[in-house]
Amino acid sequence: MTTVIEARDLHCGYGTLPVVRGLDLTVGAGEVVCLLGANGAGKTTTLLTIAGALPQLGGDLQVLGSPVTKARPYAIARRGLSMVPEGRGLFYKLTVAENLRLRRHRRSTVTMAEVFEQFPALPALADRRTGLLSGGEQQRVALAGALIASPTVMLLDEMCLGLAPIIVEKLLPMVRRIAEEHAMGVLLVEQHVLAALTVADRGYVLAHGRVVAEGSAAELRRDAEKLEAGYLGEDIAAAPVPLANGGQR
Ligand SMILES: Nc1ncnc2c1ncn2[C@@H]1O[C@H](COP(=O)(O)OP(=O)(O)O)[C@@H](O)[C@H]1O
Ligand SMILES: [Mg+2]
Repeated sequence: MTTVIEARDLHCGYGTLPVVRGLDLTVGAGEVVCLLGANGAGKTTTLLTIAGALPQLGGDLQVLGSPVTKARPYAIARRGLSMVPEGRGLFYKLTVAENLRLRRHRRSTVTMAEVFEQFPALPALADRRTGLLSGGEQQRVALAGALIASPTVMLLDEMCLGLAPIIVEKLLPMVRRIAEEHAMGVLLVEQHVLAALTVADRGYVLAHGRVVAEGSAAELRRDAEKLEAGYLGEDIAAAPVPLANGGQR
């Protein structure tokens, strides 16, 4: 399996302050890998660094076989990386079709027809203003927009935030199917831990910027209760947990 994302001892953050410290993470082509952790753990920071939108503070980071250091975000996107950021990143005053057309570029091999086939709810909404759609529909547009750029790597940041569980159960399997059909590596940040671990192959758990657990989705599912109690709760910032190295925060 080709490795599409490879981080070794990656440090990243804002200014000179590292938020994520010593991250080792890989994603292979066709693989869905989830990145879990409480609010503030460093998940978004990690995704933005992989996308080239934040500078690296140390370590080694490769996307599709080339270093990310000094590459501009658009150059990483051109290599084949597509991201659905927190908050979906849509143009809400534009229609669904306009949002999708904006994400298509000269080298896109995925057509509008193929995207509509993957997301059968969208053709009927094509001429609707995106801001008027439901959360679940908007998230389908965001995912479809990421797909139409024909990426080899996809980063998804909390795409199920605020959606009803019944919608989450429909959206996450779509991610799995897309990853398999397009041999795409997906790094999935998700608060719906069990639902994410149901579609993922592997996962990492971040706490205070360090990996505190990693393994196959099955292994992490088995430990889900322990992980939720220790690392995935909302109150984690208030109660720092001892880290694997014995240090804190
Ligand atoms: N623009 C920023 N400047 C400084 N610190 C930030 C900025 N954005 C996030 N942080 C800090 O980085 C840490 C990790 O944030 P983030 O990666 O957004 O966490 P997560 O996505 O896991 O909830 C938090 O402590 C947050 O306050
Ligand atoms: Mg975040």
